[in-house]
Amino acid sequence: MPREEAREVTHFGYRQVPLADKQALVDDVFHSVASRYDLMNDLMSGGLHRAWKDVLANTVNPPKGNRPFKLLDVAGGTGDIALRVAQAGGTGTRATVLDINPDMLAVGRARARGQGYDDALTFIDGNAEALPFPEGSFDAVTIAFGIRNVPRIDVALKEAFRVCRTGGRFLCLEFSCVDVPGLDALYDFYSFNVIPALGRMVTGDREAYRYLVESIRRFPHPEAFAQMMRDAGFARAGFERMAGGIVALHSGWRL
Ligand SMILES: C[S@@+](CC[C@H](N)C(=O)[O-])C[C@H]1O[C@@H](n2cnc3c(N)ncnc32)[C@H](O)[C@@H]1O
Repeated sequence: MPREEAREVTHFGYRQVPLADKQALVDDVFHSVASRYDLMNDLMSGGLHRAWKDVLANTVNPPKGNRPFKLLDVAGGTGDIALRVAQAGGTGTRATVLDINPDMLAVGRARARGQGYDDALTFIDGNAEALPFPEGSFDAVTIAFGIRNVPRIDVALKEAFRVCRTGGRFLCLEFSCVDVPGLDALYDFYSFNVIPALGRMVTGDREAYRYLVESIRRFPHPEAFAQMMRDAGFARAGFERMAGGIVALHSGWRL
């Protein structure tokens, strides 16, 4: 490891850790919860994550006919976004799911096969910080609930920009900051008490879900994230809050 990298620090949830150690810690989390990840999403969000992901897929707005359209879903995990975009698009729509965790990808591959989408979807083991695709390969690049797990967010944004074609769109769905008085206290209580306990019951891993909650709190405010997108090269960077700010859909274009 380069000496500079060994000295840099970042956060894994609320814990300060060497930058070079973060990815392995994140990988352990998703290795531990992969088989119950989809169930936990439904339980934690009361099914709401489905509606948020539907908004993302509809915003991608793939063509309905046979016009070719290529989506890259970074940190795509079990394929939720790619499946939705493939379902929303026509016969020309193809989606690539890239994730660093083979356990999450294995669940996704099985789902795609089970739903008859194995031709439309490709699953690739890879790192958001070093995408294995040439410049301008995709019409749209998405990342849902993934970017806050990536150690170098700025590097991942630059990579998303690089592989997006000119005229293509980047969309990022991520947890955000609750901005409704009253809801914030309720959300805090639910996040720090209910979610880790639920995580322990369903996956046996309380710590994984404590990390999840803490990582949400450490993620930049949406205005700051929009600036990070601009710094990576995206034009017209903006966001739309949903569910009182629990999540935000960030959007930018490569122009
Ligand atoms: C909370 S899950 C989101 C999965 C999926 N996008 C969804 O919305 O259900 C976060 C995903 O990010 C992946 N991930 C973490 N670091 C990554 C990296 N550096 N490159 C690619 N994927 C990464 C994890 O393996 C995990 O599958």
